[in-house]
Amino acid sequence: MNNRFDKIFLVAGARPNFMKIAPIAHAFNRVDETNQIDYKVVHTGQHYDYEMSQAFFDDLEINRPDYFLGVGSASHAVQTARIMMAFEEVCLKEKPGAVVVVGDVNSTVACALVAKKLGIGVAHVEAGLRSYDRTMPEEINRILTDTISDYLFTTCKDANRNLKKEGISKGKIYFVGNVMIDTLLQFRAKAEKSAKIKIDQEDYALLTLHRPSNVDDKRTFKSILEALKEVSKRIPILFPAHPRTQKQVKAFGYEKYFNFLELNPKNTVKLRNSINLSGPLSYVEFLNLMAKSKLVYTDSGGIQEETTILAIPCLTIRENTERPVTIEEGTNILVGSDREKIAEESDKILKGKGKKGRIPKLWDGKAAERTVNILLGRPYEPFRPQ
Ligand code: UD1
Repeated sequence: MNNRFDKIFLVAGARPNFMKIAPIAHAFNRVDETNQIDYKVVHTGQHYDYEMSQAFFDDLEINRPDYFLGVGSASHAVQTARIMMAFEEVCLKEKPGAVVVVGDVNSTVACALVAKKLGIGVAHVEAGLRSYDRTMPEEINRILTDTISDYLFTTCKDANRNLKKEGISKGKIYFVGNVMIDTLLQFRAKAEKSAKIKIDQEDYALLTLHRPSNVDDKRTFKSILEALKEVSKRIPILFPAHPRTQKQVKAFGYEKYFNFLELNPKNTVKLRNSINLSGPLSYVEFLNLMAKSKLVYTDSGGIQEETTILAIPCLTIRENTERPVTIEEGTNILVGSDREKIAEESDKILKGKGKKGRIPKLWDGKAAERTVNILLGRPYEPFRPQ
């Protein structure tokens, strides 16, 4: 059977992309051996530290990238422009029939734009999510990428509705489920078995925080830290911090809020009743610690979804979310940066009254398979948005 495309690029650039391309790469690898699909992994290099990038390729068993563009960090304009220039060269050389982009980072929109202008098909995985907050760089990336995509693969019903409202034709929208959840379900057991970091107590909370709106504004960051410092007197908080956040802690002189930790896998980690700050963790280590935590604080998009599947209460330190399904059906609650709201909702969870939630439709571990079958023009009846 012929595939619709002879050659496909699978693009990733930043940490939250890697868990989304992993199951798609694995599904491409499973396409029958006589009819192998020629796919190439392109890594833009938006993230480059070992813990932010290669650690994920190792944990998630993704082949080494065929192309590493090495663009690195810069302002939005410079980073986006560098990705576009480097990616165009690779597209002109390789002439893929389609480019698959995932998520909402600068690499997503930059590569989609290059492909579209070269007449290459664009597929967007995780299309249609909207926070309706255009001050978020990711919201701009989402809207622009969806506007020019030919295949829009969605994770939830609200994404289908958002796309239809924006005038995207129904025929381009494929409701396939959540590829990031495919990865979580695939690697959950491995995480439990092979994670090395051990914590000295059962009751702890986990924190991630890196959004510019939370960590680049001195007062907002302080208000969040004071609220969490208060909670940490009742339950220690483990905070594997993004490099951007670590820089901001130093820049604002906020070291006093933290107990600084070295996560040495050889020794059991002793948490204090404080915010225990470490460097970023690999996928397997983070997943294992998240699955065992009592509660998660985050401003990440993906973690709102992962806690829903793990049935761990999640307090999202943002005013809005592009993932409302995690509130309507999952374990997520928006608390913003408000000290009282953070304290109040934490208290409920610590008293055992956290949200239970249920699993959203099609978050079943088969989203990548559906995506790849549709992309290759193989028989598969997708769930069409009503
Ligand atoms: C990017 C994404 C964001 C995503 C986040 C996950 C955009 C617009 N934002 O934000 O949606 O939630 O990734 O991590 O694409 N840095 C390092 N090492 C690295 C990478 C970054 O030290 O490997 C530092 C650099 O100082 C850099 C800063 O982090 O300037 C920000 O990196 P950048 O890729 O610009 O944005 P993120 O905040 O990571």
